[in-house]
Amino acid sequence: IRTAAVIPAAGRGVRLGPGAPKALRTLGGTPMLVHAVRAMAASRAVSLVVVVAPPDGAPEVRALLDEHSFGRAELLVVPGGETRQESVRRGLDALPDDVDVVLVHDAARPLVPVDTVDAVIAAVRSGAPAVVPALPLADTVKRVEPRPKGEAEPVTGTPERALLRAVQTPQGFDRETLLKAHDTVVEGEGATDDAGLVERLGAPVVVVPGHEEAFKVTRPLDLVLAEAVLARRRA
Ligand code: CTP
Ligand code: MG
Repeated sequence: IRTAAVIPAAGRGVRLGPGAPKALRTLGGTPMLVHAVRAMAASRAVSLVVVVAPPDGAPEVRALLDEHSFGRAELLVVPGGETRQESVRRGLDALPDDVDVVLVHDAARPLVPVDTVDAVIAAVRSGAPAVVPALPLADTVKRVEPRPKGEAEPVTGTPERALLRAVQTPQGFDRETLLKAHDTVVEGEGATDDAGLVERLGAPVVVVPGHEEAFKVTRPLDLVLAEAVLARRRA
């Protein structure tokens, strides 16, 4: 069985504010993308990492990654697209034929522990076609009727919190299942993750325990948390 990880890193990071593309912003002096590649390569099972770079930035990303070493994992860099789904698609297109398990991992989750990566891989290898790491929610969640900014939004419901999970990456898939999902499901149908595409096929998706440190760096406050987690690890 050969396992590869695709890392979509082509986003601009608008919510993080002005600066370099998010994946190239640094944590503890090292680009987030380098942390994310290390996190995948840390798993003994992962023998190939495909990095999906900003559309016009593949050569720079390749040069940046060549300055670092990632153990025995092979590294490919391909240019991404306008949307996350398109970027993942381009990463999948670069996979060699002998890969049968695929992880998709956001560059924006640089600190995921290797045990979480291994747990996802193990679940796919034991037969689940799609596996997502996830955690219970701390906040109660409301459904609303969206209104323009500044207007109060009517609440239309409260899903039972105990039945909800906040989903992280790496998400793990049987290669064929993920390719079929990307081939079948049309962009813009509201799937915000890869498992969501698989669900639309009607294939089963299972959850394994996620990890607090696999949080996504999205807003400036997340950078503060990520720096603190790194500092604690290095202490
Ligand atoms: N991503 C990508 N290609 C895109 C958009 C996003 O590869 N066209 C990647 C991002 O680089 C990130 C992951 O998908 O690693 C999750 O996306 P998100 O956290 O939303 O990152 P950005 O889209 O960069 O951030 P924002 O939405 O704030 O602009
Ligand atoms: Mg985005």
